[in-house]
Amino acid sequence: PVIHREDYRPPDWLVPDIALDFTLDPAATRVKARLSVTRNGVHQRPLRLDGDGLTPVAVRIDGEPQADAWRMDGPALLIDLPGDAHEIETEVEIAPEANSQLMGLYASGGNLCTQCEPEGFRRITFFPDRPDVLSRYVVRMEADKARYPVLLSNGDRTGGGDLPGGRHWAEWRDPFFKPTYLFALVAADLVANRDSFATRSGKQVELAIWVKPDDLPRTEHAMAALKASMAWDEKVYGREYDLGEFNIVAVADFNFGAMENKSLNIFNSRYILADPDTATDVDYDNVAGVVAHEYFHNWSGNRVTCRDWFQLSLKEGFTVFRDQSFSADQGSAAVKRIEDVRALRAAQFPEDAGPLAHPIRPESYIEISNFYTATVYNKGAEVIRMLHTILGPEKFRAGSDLYFERHDGQAATCEDFVTAMEDASGVDLTRFRLWYSQAGTPRVRATLTHEPAGGQARLTLEQEVPPTPGQPAKQPMPIPLRVALYGEMTGEVFGGERLVMLEDQHQEILFEGIGERPILSINRGFSAPVTVVSERSAADLAFLSARDDDPFARYEAMQQLMVDTLVGAVARGSADHRPVIDAVQDTLRNSALDAAFIAEAVLLPSESFIGDQMAKVDPVAIHAAREALRRDLGQELEDEWRASYAKTHANRYEYTPAAKGLRRLKTVALGYLAASGAEDAAIIAHRQFRDADNMTDRQGALATLANSPWPERDEALAAFYDRYRDNGLVIDKWFTTQALSTRDDTVDAVEKLAKHPDFTLANPNRIRALVGAFSVNQKAFNDASGRGYRFLADMVLAVDKLNPQTAAKLVPPLGRWRRFDEGRAALMRKELERIVATPGLSKDVFEQASKSLG
Ligand code: ARG
Ligand code: ZN
Repeated sequence: PVIHREDYRPPDWLVPDIALDFTLDPAATRVKARLSVTRNGVHQRPLRLDGDGLTPVAVRIDGEPQADAWRMDGPALLIDLPGDAHEIETEVEIAPEANSQLMGLYASGGNLCTQCEPEGFRRITFFPDRPDVLSRYVVRMEADKARYPVLLSNGDRTGGGDLPGGRHWAEWRDPFFKPTYLFALVAADLVANRDSFATRSGKQVELAIWVKPDDLPRTEHAMAALKASMAWDEKVYGREYDLGEFNIVAVADFNFGAMENKSLNIFNSRYILADPDTATDVDYDNVAGVVAHEYFHNWSGNRVTCRDWFQLSLKEGFTVFRDQSFSADQGSAAVKRIEDVRALRAAQFPEDAGPLAHPIRPESYIEISNFYTATVYNKGAEVIRMLHTILGPEKFRAGSDLYFERHDGQAATCEDFVTAMEDASGVDLTRFRLWYSQAGTPRVRATLTHEPAGGQARLTLEQEVPPTPGQPAKQPMPIPLRVALYGEMTGEVFGGERLVMLEDQHQEILFEGIGERPILSINRGFSAPVTVVSERSAADLAFLSARDDDPFARYEAMQQLMVDTLVGAVARGSADHRPVIDAVQDTLRNSALDAAFIAEAVLLPSESFIGDQMAKVDPVAIHAAREALRRDLGQELEDEWRASYAKTHANRYEYTPAAKGLRRLKTVALGYLAASGAEDAAIIAHRQFRDADNMTDRQGALATLANSPWPERDEALAAFYDRYRDNGLVIDKWFTTQALSTRDDTVDAVEKLAKHPDFTLANPNRIRALVGAFSVNQKAFNDASGRGYRFLADMVLAVDKLNPQTAAKLVPPLGRWRRFDEGRAALMRKELERIVATPGLSKDVFEQASKSLG
């Protein structure tokens, strides 16, 4: 059954209050629920309570067991009610330890926890499980005290104590109205890192991060990030925390990154735990980013929530924009922007160009869990960023203030958000709304001509929004482009940067007083999530890569130069590497640039990004062309790489933006030295691996070793495994590093790793570490034999039996078949067809696989 956005209807019944009573046990948990329900509007429809796998043990209406008043309608419970207000009681029994989907109440590492977004609450109790039904919750729970000494839920703890038989109880009340998806409960044997935060109005908030005892020393970074997030949201958005307590619980088994349940965030432990020995700099950054993201949801998501799941980007796009801005303020904003754009291009652009393309506000779905996508999250964040660019920071803030004021305590829509921005700023956003309804990445062709006599330059812009499933014809989008023109001789910017609004399909912009040949710098800061096509010469791109004062544009010019070279090499079998080598050399020698930026700028675009620029992807030719360029860069600039390595090597560990940049450049330099074929590269890599005092250096060296034919390789992999065999998050890295290897034997290795005793389908992180990583390894996954595709399909089917959500997220790489040659396309389609034909498939995987076939 397909759910359509236009079919939205307000709920028939509201549930202002709910009291839940849990008798917790991993094999058999009793859940009693008391709902006060009120008729919403004038109608005669029954009360529908969603359920998923629940059998009612008892149903009472206003205290009486009225057997003829209720019936089951599939998994849901229907109740005929005479009046406009009633009290409904239900009782069910559930088995958390048998819950392998990790939705609803489940067991992880011996503890009990919940995940309710989007539709997990109906696996716990009967309820109208939709985000526009907001309730006040009272939660009582009891459990074995020795096994589960910690009992947590949302809001404030309002009672508790011991019970006979070694049991105990606790009661929690949340004063804020919230939808089901923000409910949470934890019963666990964990310890807390405790701290506190004084809000700007002087309220004291007790903070706790709950983890297994051994992990306690790994919680400092997350705690610091939490406090920094609380201060940042006050300062930048005027948003203060609203309860006396804020708890975070880390669990090892989790389908997503984390969950923003009201005052009880539950996290995938990989986004909480960090210490220098086990977490890389990227891990540290991700921990801070996800902690901030979930904290920011308290306003953008919880105080103002979503009316229906089509509005998901209302909270996710805005909150990703907020966490990106927070991270940019904590370190290098330029490097953060480069990383965010790289992630968008790696995950969202292919989605927008493929069979699963959808607008940031989708029109229909079979399974909403499939729409927690890079489009809804990351393109959604770019759409909010464009509003910020168009309105400017002051008006944007006024719009945000108005949005929170107007909709506090409500379930709102994307339209409400845009209207608030419009009302507060006075800027007409009528056409801007197209960004919510049209899918596809716009292509903007930019041509700059110069008339030296009149001192005029003319910028011609043409846009095209490609067709996507269900949307064959598109309207032109309003595209904000930050543009500057540089004088070729003087290197000066003519008249500063301009914000050009491309509104029409075709537009021309005239620049006056241009006395020398201008060079075009466009989409600076990546001001719009579009692909810019402009025929700029290698010399112009090299100029910008050395001179542009917008760091993103500078990085982008280098990327374009590299892409042009590599696409040319694939087309013609060879290419002139000299312009890239010279530009990289200039960047490496530029003492005004910091190491973190240099490391980003000199990295070659990924094989998948190169493929995205071509009509048909030839993975073998792309790999060969890219390796040839890497080797030339390594050899021609060997002295520079050695100098960069030496400069960054003797650097004591600290987690600061500067030290992070040095570590990044160090491993990038090591990679180029290895590519050069230098005889001592193996020794240098192995020494870095052995002597590292932090995971960034150790894992960086291990990745270089894992790609190599050197004898040190197997020894290093074995040593890494032995050292970290008890740390699941690090063993995930061990799997990933091998799955990403560019060696010829990677498919064999991955098939073998899937039989390793540490590989398990019960843990989503482990599945992603091996299978998810392998599926983005362009060379191995696209092996001409089709073995990579078969392996992925086998895994999808195996995981689907346990955990459909996680299985469905593995499918999209097979949906890229249209981009490949006939042979590979047929092999990929065969696997998709095999998946779709499998009896008992979940609707999650069915939707992804059938849509991928087209
Ligand atoms: N709201 C969470 C976040 O982005 C994601 C939870 C998604 N979970 C799911 N099972 N679909 O922070
Ligand atoms: Zn989120």
